[in-house]
Amino acid sequence: MWLQTFLCVILFVLIRSDEHDHQYEPNEEVVLWVNTVGPYHNRQETYPYFSLPFCAGPKPSINHYHETLGENLLGVELEFSGVNIAFRGDYTKTEYCSVDLTKEKYELFVYAIKNHYWYQMYIDDLPIWGVVGEYDEKDESFWLWTHKKFEIGFNEDRIVDVNLTSEAKVKLTPGMNIKFSYEVNWKKSSIPFEDRFEKYLDPGFFQHRIHWFSIFNSFMMVIFLVGIVSMILMRTLRKDYARYNEKDIDDLERDLGDEYGWKQVHGDVFRSPPFSTFLASLFGSGCQIAAVALVVVVFTIVGELYTERGSLLNTAIFMYAVTAPVNGFFGGGLYARLGGKLWIRQMVIGALLVPGFVSLTAFFINFIAIYYQAAKAIHFTSMLAIIAICIFIILPCNLIGTLLGRALTGQANYPCRINAVPRPIPEKKWYTDPLVITVFGGLLPFGSIFIEVYFVFTSFWAYKIYYVYGFMLLVFLILLVVTVCVTIVTTYFLLNAEDYRWQWTSFATGASIGLYIYMYSFYYYFFKTKMYGLFQTTFYFGYMALLSSILGIMCGTFGYTGANYFVRIIYSTVKID
Ligand SMILES: *[C@@H]1O[C@H](CO)[C@@H](O)[C@H](O)[C@H]1NC(C)=O
Repeated sequence: MWLQTFLCVILFVLIRSDEHDHQYEPNEEVVLWVNTVGPYHNRQETYPYFSLPFCAGPKPSINHYHETLGENLLGVELEFSGVNIAFRGDYTKTEYCSVDLTKEKYELFVYAIKNHYWYQMYIDDLPIWGVVGEYDEKDESFWLWTHKKFEIGFNEDRIVDVNLTSEAKVKLTPGMNIKFSYEVNWKKSSIPFEDRFEKYLDPGFFQHRIHWFSIFNSFMMVIFLVGIVSMILMRTLRKDYARYNEKDIDDLERDLGDEYGWKQVHGDVFRSPPFSTFLASLFGSGCQIAAVALVVVVFTIVGELYTERGSLLNTAIFMYAVTAPVNGFFGGGLYARLGGKLWIRQMVIGALLVPGFVSLTAFFINFIAIYYQAAKAIHFTSMLAIIAICIFIILPCNLIGTLLGRALTGQANYPCRINAVPRPIPEKKWYTDPLVITVFGGLLPFGSIFIEVYFVFTSFWAYKIYYVYGFMLLVFLILLVVTVCVTIVTTYFLLNAEDYRWQWTSFATGASIGLYIYMYSFYYYFFKTKMYGLFQTTFYFGYMALLSSILGIMCGTFGYTGANYFVRIIYSTVKID
């Protein structure tokens, strides 16, 4: 039964537009889809195109566009324009419809022009933008562009370039009749079909010296940190090896006598932390997020997914569903090692933690979107689809992973015995407090990626199309190494201060990068964007919180993994029993 659902969802996710293969016969119909309108400065605040009193052309509506899940979540809302365009058929200026400007319609247009509305359309999956109108400050009049001039470049039987020019502005007065017209000119173009998206990319922005420089910088940091970690490991381990090899009893006793620091807590380091269910769930989710991130980035590099509407999101959702066993494997395994008994509860929490969190945020933002009647409002069917994916794919897959994880990695095998009574944690310097360590621990990882964060934000908020996924892969790896190294160093500090609560501390140390990213997003909002209004602001801060948390969970997992290996390695040399 669930196999069928699974297949359905795969189809649902993978089916693309029913627009053909991008090849046209002469005079074959070319569809002009209208998408959304919205304020120029609020890229996510979009409304259906016909929420403004534009009119459609006389051509009868063809089938409604079948949008994918990802497109719906992104607020793609394609509707047929009714405008007649045929492949390589030139049209001189042709009127396609007219609007009687009643008072309400007048006010709608005036509102749109005041707020710098622009609209978006698609021809053959190529996006086109145009502004609605202009405000003339001299006589405080509002002007509307009524003529659309399309210049379409074709290369043999394919469309490779589209330009839109707005012309013939008319001064708006209530009661007037506005005639909308268009014209189409076809031009031979030598742009290869594969390269037609290149004009939307901005190499000058993404391949700026600063970008390369920051990667280089982060790389230096990685080398430095790896150096420090190997020094710590060598220091702690060499002494022990030397000691045990010599078998010098006197020496050993002297060493044990004035021993202080991390060795003192050997009876407590492997004590299960409080809230182990939650730790295991976060850890499993983090592993899954990392797997999805890695796979999606690699896919995007190979498949240039950024050129297709919603396909990046579709891929991410699909990957998240099928990587659910990863979550169960690592989360369930860790829970078993921590001695947890209620493993089914842990599995359900672990499986639904991230989807639940994402859905809650989206649900909240959706309320506002519905209130605004924005195109971003998520349809009921999409919500059902998401819930179905959670129940029929994520949960069963997670169960398989959990069973495997418990069977294969569920044995604790700790190198040291756990004392019956917890050791009191001594008074210590302020800088070895777990909270301080956590907060400072995020600084270096954030420093290593914040330039990239700027580029990602700029494209995430739709000012540019992000396409340098090679950079992103590199930054992902740098972030991984930096987070692991920093957490190992801070764990070492913590244990030396005879504080054995390293599990949560190491997770939090890694995760604190999310805090910095969120703080940075405030800076970005106020200094780099001109967003305004309740809808856009909620949208921005809501999704930024989501992004920061997800990154935080992922980096927390990196941190915990690193610290876990480190602790196991150093305590496996402690043979005091
Ligand atoms: C579109 O505009 C660009 C830049 O102005 C120009 O290079 C290109 O040839 C135009 N394409 C068509 C089909 O007119």
